[in-house]
Amino acid sequence: MSDSAANHVDHILTEDRLFPPPKSLAEGAVIGSEAEYQKLYDQAANDPDTFWDAMGKKHLHWFEPFDQVCQWDAPDVAWFVNGKTNASYNCLDAHVLAGNGDRAAIIWEGEPGDTRTLTYSELLTEVCKAANGLRELGIEKGDVVSIYMPMTPELVIAMLACARIGAIHSVIFAGFSAESIADRNNDAQAKLVITANGLYRRGKVLPLKEVVDEALEKSTSVKHCLVLQRIADQETSMIEGRDIWWHDLVDSASADCPAVPLDSETPLFILYTSGSTGKPKGILHTTAGYNLWAKLTFQWVFDHREDDVYWCTADCGWITGHSYVVYGPLTAGATCLMYEGAPNYPAEDRFWELIEKYKVTTLYTAPTAIRAFIKWGDQHVDAHDLSSLRILGTVGEGINPEAWMWYHKKIGAERCPIVDTWWQTETGGIMMSPLPAITATKPGSCTKPLPGVIPAVIDEAGERIEDGFGGMLCIEKPWPGMLRGIWGDQERYVEQYWSKVPGMYLTGDNARRDSDGYYWIMGRIDDVINVSGHRLSTIEVESALVSHPAVCEAAVVGRPHELKGQGISAFVTVTTENPGEELRNELRMHVRKEIGALAQPDDIRFAAVLPKTRSGKIMRRLLRDIAAGRESAGDTSTLEDYTVMAKLREEDDN
Ligand code: WT7
Repeated sequence: MSDSAANHVDHILTEDRLFPPPKSLAEGAVIGSEAEYQKLYDQAANDPDTFWDAMGKKHLHWFEPFDQVCQWDAPDVAWFVNGKTNASYNCLDAHVLAGNGDRAAIIWEGEPGDTRTLTYSELLTEVCKAANGLRELGIEKGDVVSIYMPMTPELVIAMLACARIGAIHSVIFAGFSAESIADRNNDAQAKLVITANGLYRRGKVLPLKEVVDEALEKSTSVKHCLVLQRIADQETSMIEGRDIWWHDLVDSASADCPAVPLDSETPLFILYTSGSTGKPKGILHTTAGYNLWAKLTFQWVFDHREDDVYWCTADCGWITGHSYVVYGPLTAGATCLMYEGAPNYPAEDRFWELIEKYKVTTLYTAPTAIRAFIKWGDQHVDAHDLSSLRILGTVGEGINPEAWMWYHKKIGAERCPIVDTWWQTETGGIMMSPLPAITATKPGSCTKPLPGVIPAVIDEAGERIEDGFGGMLCIEKPWPGMLRGIWGDQERYVEQYWSKVPGMYLTGDNARRDSDGYYWIMGRIDDVINVSGHRLSTIEVESALVSHPAVCEAAVVGRPHELKGQGISAFVTVTTENPGEELRNELRMHVRKEIGALAQPDDIRFAAVLPKTRSGKIMRRLLRDIAAGRESAGDTSTLEDYTVMAKLREEDDN
């Protein structure tokens, strides 16, 4: 094996289609020319103190000014040192005081079709009442509050109520088990859980409170449970002294609750994310830096304009919901659509119906959803007028060029730029993305870093890799939205993100930069497959498979191979009924034609579904076990559908 082969990841799939930004977007854009982007980028890179000093002062409200922009001693960082601000104030009071209180903040639609609109003034009133309610339950600055709720306005109200008084929220996606809730409650020492008596999902009611009750049997630190009555006639057990109805506590609470001036580095929230193995990590974000990063990146990437109707389809249980349903858009004064339910209820056109009904201008969703829409068929899209759309976004995983083209043509009618946003729970906000008015896009590339982001592609020896080759993606300099630690486990924090490449933040992803300076995410470092000394990225082989008309989704993993070191195992879901050897051969030949013999899968398995996390990411770790014929060890608690693994193993036996 040559040195270079050992040190980089081979880039094997060529994609050179280029889509220029629509000229019509340049006028009045937040960043309207390449020169403007370059100026911001260079300032942030060369003189970060001046750049961030100005941005901090302009974009957040300060009860007391900061006296230092950034204190950095890797991995310890503090932003806007000694300043005092409040994220709830920046999201609400700032707009009301500026005379924009009557602007809609949240336009909400429940799954059954009930609707509610909250203006910035109304949202402020609700948040103040809820914050006073929390205080009545003894919640103080620094206390952790777990939130396990459906996508209702009260979920946002609960988050901002915590922020208002300096309590730390820990939102737990309302699909997790009692066990997962208890683990998170205990790890964070949560004092309160806020939940609802139920949640609508595909027309059924899921009894959330029952799940919480089970979790609370094992949650030693929790004193109270606050319960929203989402479902009117749902029998709900309430334990006297512990459980309180939201309406009993909040409706009568005072609406007078000034935002508490909080030090810039006051913890704002913890968000648990699954590690590749073992127990979930509580990623910690603090107040000022995170708030600024969420706002700025929202404005830049979605080119926010006053009369936009913006819709991020993510659940607040994920970082995307934190940064781009709540803190980013609200701090920017945007009007946000919020939808409670499933995309295929009552029918598979629900999203398109919502876009038409509310004249959505900006849609931000995930590739996993886009692939589902493709599978459900174009007729659902064709039935609706989507001409209000201006900008389309994706997040969460790489988007295969095939899915990108469908999104571009079918949803964007070839006139809406696609912003493929690369970032992580840890980064707090978007790090690399096209800017809609100026970036020519390439399907599958997240294009360029935002101002303030200095990426580096590093090989195993810790050296920088030249353009065109894949390696570990790192970030060289601190940025305001970066994580501040793992809750209660500083050792794991240092080990995971700061030890492999000294002085740089290790993202855990592989990437390459092309000769235009565009970045291509090639999958997680752990997912690299080494075939006869060539290190291949999973996403490129998957994209080749997905470009075959019969394939809906593909996941590719390495497995032990006598001669090659590792062989390639592909798991695919297809549109063909009873797929067999013929299609298998066709797919092998297809990959060979698209990217070459090296990438041709050694085995291809047809699956009904792929194992995914609840946020839609394929769990390749589990597929590796199946491909190698081993039992699965490690954590499967984040798996969306537990029966998937058994089904895949069954198919394997056939
Ligand atoms: C990981 C982070 C980003 C918020 C939601 C997920 C993958 C994310 C992209 C993209 C290729 C992507 C990366 C990253 N990822 N966005 N646009 N292209 N890969 O947050 O659960 O913390 O996951 O998701 O592997 O490291 P997360």
